[in-house]
Amino acid sequence: MGECRMQKMLAFLSLMLVTLPPIYGWGTDGHSIICKIAQTRLTEEAADAVKQLLPKWAEDDLGSVCSWADEVKFRYRWSSPLHFINTPETCSYQYKRDCKDEDGEAGRCVAGAINNYTSNFSPTILPQIKLNPLHVGFASDKGGNTIVVHWYKTKQVLHHVWDTNIIETAEERFYNSNVDDMVDAIQQNITNEWADQVKRWETCSLNKTACPDIYASEGIKAACDWAYKGVKEESVLEDDYFVSRLPIIYWRLAQGGVRLAATLNRIFG
Ligand SMILES: *[C@@H]1O[C@H](CO)[C@@H](O)[C@H](O)[C@H]1NC(C)=O
Ligand SMILES: *[C@@H]1O[C@H](CO)[C@@H](O)[C@H](O)[C@H]1NC(C)=O
Ligand SMILES: *[C@@H]1O[C@H](CO)[C@@H](O)[C@H](O)[C@H]1NC(C)=O
Repeated sequence: MGECRMQKMLAFLSLMLVTLPPIYGWGTDGHSIICKIAQTRLTEEAADAVKQLLPKWAEDDLGSVCSWADEVKFRYRWSSPLHFINTPETCSYQYKRDCKDEDGEAGRCVAGAINNYTSNFSPTILPQIKLNPLHVGFASDKGGNTIVVHWYKTKQVLHHVWDTNIIETAEERFYNSNVDDMVDAIQQNITNEWADQVKRWETCSLNKTACPDIYASEGIKAACDWAYKGVKEESVLEDDYFVSRLPIIYWRLAQGGVRLAATLNRIFG
């Protein structure tokens, strides 16, 4: 291992070690599901490397550290623009136009961060694979964060519906609130239903380590086709919306898990 790799590994390790044990709760299930799926798909080398990097309290469960970036985004303020991409109310994404922070600094968006942290070895990629298409959303509504809706009887913002409410409602209704059962159901579809797509999800053009621009383009498209579609201020979102959008969530979670594993396998393989 080169000296630079070693330094980065140590930097990552110390960051993980000063991080307090994770807070379980809202917003963490999506990340955790992706990481649980990914962990089952690692090569032996990558699985070993991940095991070495995980702090003791994680008990070898990658899923338990995958909300780390969300937990520290207020402590490390500089990192908060690295969680998302905003487009100018268009259903397409262009790196040059859209990957910047509020001050217009180029590359300061989630795609820039993934490029940054995968071109040089750095497992800080782990928490940054986003499932929710609204992490690639419109600037005007802050990725659905200013659209107030009713999720059944509770008041929410649209972003939160996609971060948390749809997943939690599915867990409660279909899996007895057991996340692992939901993970198993998604894995079933990865091995059967979606088997012929999986190779494509895993592959990156030009042998790149990760392809965030592709994930971002898919994200804004899904945001337009499914998340924003038919929703306005004060919309009441119930069974119709839940049932029609849940398959998209399953599919994006599956893609996230498969891609995270493929990325880690390329880094450590
Ligand atoms: C890329 O990494 C460098 C060095 O760690 C950091 O200063 C910079 O802010 C990073 N940029 C992004 C977009 O993550
Ligand atoms: C798996 O695929 C079937 C058939 O398309 C679908 O009905 C089901 O909801 C999917 N389940 C998950 C967890 O993706
Ligand atoms: C990608 O990697 C494979 C295997 O290492 C190699 O055969 C192929 O030529 C590479 N393709 C490009 C476009 O670099």
